[in-house]
Amino acid sequence: MPVASFHFPRGFLWGTATAAHQVEGNNTNNNWWKWEQEGHTIDKSGLACDWWSGRWKEDFDRAVEGGQNAHRLSVEWSRIQPGPDQWDEDALERYRAILRGLRDRNMTAMVTLHHFTDPLWLSEKGGWEKGSVVPLFEKFVRKTVGALKEYCSLWCTINEPNVYALESYVDRKYPPGKSSLRLALHVQANLLRGHAAAYHAIHEIQPEARVGFAHHHRPMLPRFSWFPLDVLERNIQFEAVNMGFPSGILNGFMRTPMGNMRIPEARNTLDFLGLNYYSQYTVAFDLLKPAELFGRRYYPKGSDIPAGGDNANIPEGLFRSLKWALQFKLPIIITENGIEDSDDSLRPRYMAAHIHQVWRAVNFNWPVKGYFWWSLVDNFEWECGYSQRFGLWELNTETQARRKRPSADLYAEICKENGLTTEMVKKYCPEAFEKMFPA
Ligand code: FCB
Repeated sequence: MPVASFHFPRGFLWGTATAAHQVEGNNTNNNWWKWEQEGHTIDKSGLACDWWSGRWKEDFDRAVEGGQNAHRLSVEWSRIQPGPDQWDEDALERYRAILRGLRDRNMTAMVTLHHFTDPLWLSEKGGWEKGSVVPLFEKFVRKTVGALKEYCSLWCTINEPNVYALESYVDRKYPPGKSSLRLALHVQANLLRGHAAAYHAIHEIQPEARVGFAHHHRPMLPRFSWFPLDVLERNIQFEAVNMGFPSGILNGFMRTPMGNMRIPEARNTLDFLGLNYYSQYTVAFDLLKPAELFGRRYYPKGSDIPAGGDNANIPEGLFRSLKWALQFKLPIIITENGIEDSDDSLRPRYMAAHIHQVWRAVNFNWPVKGYFWWSLVDNFEWECGYSQRFGLWELNTETQARRKRPSADLYAEICKENGLTTEMVKKYCPEAFEKMFPA
């Protein structure tokens, strides 16, 4: 059997990603907490991973012992600004302590300023449906970046604006659970305006800042590349899911299924592209799917899918996403990649094969600068509660105990080696060896 190692450039960022509401616990003042109390989720977030009481310390120890040199986390707007005219300096001080915790461990911090949750006072005013959110978000960003800039210069303005808009205003899985494509596009446009305002504000406060956003990218393939209706559907779906925000940033026009929206201030407001990749769809023309614009999205028969999971293990899709991202001509950071798999039977091969694809991209000299695994510890997975487990470490929500999964060891070996070796694949996921390295 061949022996090989696939190394990454010196200084490559290896980390995990988390989000405030998913790990902090007791985030009672935002729209998600309310949504949970109203019974829209499988579980309530409750204590989550109890980071707000200080358990981030033990988890950061786990990360640094596992060879990670970076961490992506988010701040909770409703903690920092509990009311429209109220700032909580203690909350900011606590975030400073958390970021100091990363610095003490020699880990680079990436801070996300908006990751799905909104303060209750904001959602009561209509949230991102109203243009008035843009100066409010900018004000929050100015305050937060001013307070945290000593510890962070890598900022992610908004996490997955496309997912936020679609889940909240089309699929009704996220608050406010409305169903209107028109509103979804309007919300996405306001998120883009908010991003642009934040981009300029951050650079004003911290000239050396690197500012990006985390884009959820879903590559899609037509069922039959020779069948024009499949190709057409694939293009319609791809545009609707993937291209709104990016087109606004590339040329100041946000392309949407209902026409272009002019947002000139968004043009060129990006220093790096954050890419969240989970899986890839196949799209077929289907007359029975009028609500989905006559396109059926699915995973091919025989796909490698975890029990109870929503994502298939399709590593080539990550390579395809990276190729797509080259059009920005900017550094690329993989801000999320991971899989729900409570018994860790699939995760090691998913991890090894995806990181192998990142290596392929790096080997073409594509500007990929870092990789953040989702996630460090199992956490509150939005509408799925604790039923979907994404962590390198398993969380017992009753006792707060953590238990290491085998993929935590695999990831530690990769981070420490700054690369992936064939020995690691043989050790952690021998079943994937042939496919990854055909004889
Ligand atoms: C992404 C979200 C993140 C997490 C993962 C599994 O869409 O950004 O918060 O829920 O999915």
